[in-house]
Amino acid sequence: MKITVVGSGYVGLVSGACLSDVGHIVTCVDNNKNKIDMLNRGEMPIFEKGLKELVENNVEDGRLFFTTDIKKATEDAQVIFIAVGTPPDEDGSADLQYVLAVAKDIGKYMNGYKVVVDKSTVPVGTADHVKSTISEVLKERKANYDFDVVSNPEFLKEGVAIDDFMKPDRVVIGAESDRAKKLMHEVYSAFTFQHDRIIFMGIRSAEMTKYAANAMLATKISFMNEISRLCEEVDADVEDVRTGIGSDHRIGYSFIYPGIGYGGSCFPKDVKALIKIAHKHNSTAKILESVEEVNEEQKLVMVTKIKNHFGEDLNGKLFTLWGLSFKPMTDDMREAPSQVIIHELIQRGAKIQAYDPEAMKEAKRIFVDNPNITYFDDQYSALKDANALILITEWRQFRMPDFEKMNSLLKEKVIFDGRNQYEPDQMKELGYICGSSREQPSVGLKALGIKAIVAKSFSRIFYRSATNQGLLLIESPEAVECYSNGDKVEVDEKKGLIKVGDKEIFFPPLPEQMQDIINEGGLLLHIKNKLVDE
Ligand SMILES: NC(=O)c1ccc[n+]([C@@H]2O[C@H](COP(=O)([O-])OP(=O)(O)OC[C@H]3O[C@@H](n4cnc5c(N)ncnc54)[C@H](O)[C@@H]3O)[C@@H](O)[C@H]2O)c1
Repeated sequence: MKITVVGSGYVGLVSGACLSDVGHIVTCVDNNKNKIDMLNRGEMPIFEKGLKELVENNVEDGRLFFTTDIKKATEDAQVIFIAVGTPPDEDGSADLQYVLAVAKDIGKYMNGYKVVVDKSTVPVGTADHVKSTISEVLKERKANYDFDVVSNPEFLKEGVAIDDFMKPDRVVIGAESDRAKKLMHEVYSAFTFQHDRIIFMGIRSAEMTKYAANAMLATKISFMNEISRLCEEVDADVEDVRTGIGSDHRIGYSFIYPGIGYGGSCFPKDVKALIKIAHKHNSTAKILESVEEVNEEQKLVMVTKIKNHFGEDLNGKLFTLWGLSFKPMTDDMREAPSQVIIHELIQRGAKIQAYDPEAMKEAKRIFVDNPNITYFDDQYSALKDANALILITEWRQFRMPDFEKMNSLLKEKVIFDGRNQYEPDQMKELGYICGSSREQPSVGLKALGIKAIVAKSFSRIFYRSATNQGLLLIESPEAVECYSNGDKVEVDEKKGLIKVGDKEIFFPPLPEQMQDIINEGGLLLHIKNKLVDE
């Protein structure tokens, strides 16, 4: 079958290459001439495992073509995929300008019956919009061609995109007419030979399925980040909890790793877009709003830990970042937590030494010529003279590094482990100070500007980590009984006094050394001050 794919990015290029590999004749279109020129020279504009070979083979066999000529590509094809970007608009809803621009082009050049497939992730109702856009252009042309608009959301994951496309868990197709369904079955039948994994449904359900799937996965991540905070409070180890719950096949191990928050081109924008869809329809999106909120906080937890260790002013500090992409096995840095962390550190005067196996070209494009970032060709040379290593992306090669070699390169033996890759006990044995997400609750609370917490009791582990962070904790069941939500609570730790309205509750004043730790911003800063004094 002759197929055109408009948009030759992560989704369009992979889809086009895979479709050609099973025998379809595919033309990939893009309005970025540079990208098309690269592809015609045999260069890949993105990093995706196996893509180069797949493209080369199918170009050589005469089944895969690249062009900027959308007119010819539309005329020649029976099925046209729209796989352009749908970035978030200013208000968070999906920006459909690229999808609708392609719809206009299709209407302009259509020369017979076509199936137009929305592969981009689009809000419910977009297929209707695409249909009316094409119809209007046809009307202007006084042309009368039949066409169907179909929704076929894509579920591939960057890093394993080819495998996902070739062996899909399911192919979701929202279609109305039998003619369109038959053609779509033909497009995909080669990928679902073993057993039919094509799920036909209504167009709106297919559009919603994609958002619901991404929102569910983002929810798992934020849920686990929240559980990791709770673990601290109840004296539990989140890694044990993760393996404990993941072994239940109803929950599974995927997407339950606590870390520095989700990023990428899909989850952040799709969660935002789904919230917008809910609001537009006067519905609530309470869970998704929390998912988003937890994720935003999570990206800053790492920065707060670094500030707690080195102080607010990071002038003269040098940090090594291992990993820049939003996840391993891709060069994609869209909405990557690394961008937020780099920005925050540089703003406070720090300099960055960065290494990523694939995303450095993209990082250089994003940060242009930022003089505060230096890029290195290997993970170890990036460590030289750094005050700390910050592990951002869990590329496999960072999992079991040569700690001895690192020791000789780093200026200070400090690791901020954003992905819980290293065993805290082993790190301690090797003499490293290791900040993992197991300390998140107290770090997060401090980041929110909370100075003191009054509660009936605290777990030992939370008490210890909060004190280390310089957060004042007071156990006072009596005080807790006196206030409710919204009350102003004043604490005078020197006098051992809590004031709630006109009520005064006394508690044993903190020992002087504890007061110093709190007042100086935490244990490490307190020790540093002491050493300087000595
Ligand atoms: N990246 C993923 O992992 C992934 C997975 C599933 C779904 N999606 C969805 O697929 C869609 C595409 O995502 P992507 O990551 O491939 O985006 P991308 O930015 O990598 O690629 C989009 C391409 O479309 C091209 N383009 C834009 N307007 C065009 C036009 N008028 N004519 C021709 N080409 C045009 C751009 O130049 C770009 O090359 C999005 O809606 C995304 O949400 C992405």
